[in-house]
Amino acid sequence: MADEHTTGEGAAGDRDEPPAIGGWRPPGRVFNGSGTFDALAALAVFGDALLERFPFDVYVSKTITREPRVGNPPPRIAETAAGMVNSIGLPNKGLARFLAEDLPRLGELPVPVCVSVMGHSGDELAALVAAVGEREEVAAIELNVSCPNVESGLVIGQDPGETARAVARARALTTKPLVVKLTPTASDQAAVARAAADAGADALSLVNTFPGTVFARGRPLLARGHGGLSGPAIKPLALAQVRTVAAAVRIPVIGMGGIAAVADAEDFLAAGASYVAVGTANFRDPLAALPIRKALRAM
Ligand SMILES: Cc1cc2nc3c(=O)[nH]c(=O)nc-3n(C[C@H](O)[C@H](O)[C@H](O)COP(=O)(O)O)c2cc1C
Repeated sequence: MADEHTTGEGAAGDRDEPPAIGGWRPPGRVFNGSGTFDALAALAVFGDALLERFPFDVYVSKTITREPRVGNPPPRIAETAAGMVNSIGLPNKGLARFLAEDLPRLGELPVPVCVSVMGHSGDELAALVAAVGEREEVAAIELNVSCPNVESGLVIGQDPGETARAVARARALTTKPLVVKLTPTASDQAAVARAAADAGADALSLVNTFPGTVFARGRPLLARGHGGLSGPAIKPLALAQVRTVAAAVRIPVIGMGGIAAVADAEDFLAAGASYVAVGTANFRDPLAALPIRKALRAM
């Protein structure tokens, strides 16, 4: 069972040691945002230098789906004031090849690995959680619920009932710690957060990207027309959601959205998060999270 954790601004009570996530104690407070740091590509470029100065305490994989996905057509990333809009579309090699090719290599990273999964139906989610949960390289599983359930047509993370069903199904299939990554577009974020916690989530992570678009010469710049906004532009929105969710549940919250410096991370902790994740900042500097990791260690 997760430890209780203090919520509310400036909660200094858990600054020494963050609460466990299920039975798991991450070695520090700094994660990466799923899909924003390709550890295997970075290893190919930086080699051992990356392992010696790994910027995160926990590595979160990009979201894996049961079947391979090529993602959306380019252009799929556009820069905007204080952020970026992406419509990457979750390209990934699918569950079988991820397990065979990538996970053994991710297991050699110097930090625990959390695998992010997304299922468009209960069965798809079940297949992912069962298979990933069996693997010893996996410290935790993150459920990305920002997708429609093909059976109901509802975006899972926008609906407390859909979220509860997805989390309960996953919970029954694994004893690994379960993190649920919330959708920022839910109309009642606290209700979805409580539904996830009551259904057995060990932690909640938020925020995912906000719907957004960029125009150039009178047309959307991204091939798909719109995407998800991330980076410093969303930090005030993210902080507000983290504050709401942290006050609504007693499980730990992993806060993210525009964190680029130590002061940003401190704001998320003050808003009630126990852990933080760095996303878009990694594209500017793959070691952007390192000073944050060091500073939060020293707390
Ligand atoms: C290029 C890109 C790819 C992303 N891919 C994923 C993904 O595969 N799964 C996921 O849950 N979130 C994904 N995200 C969302 C991030 O993990 C994070 O929640 C969001 O970007 C907010 O944090 P940030 O402002 O620090 O980037 C992606 C974000 C970006 C910019």
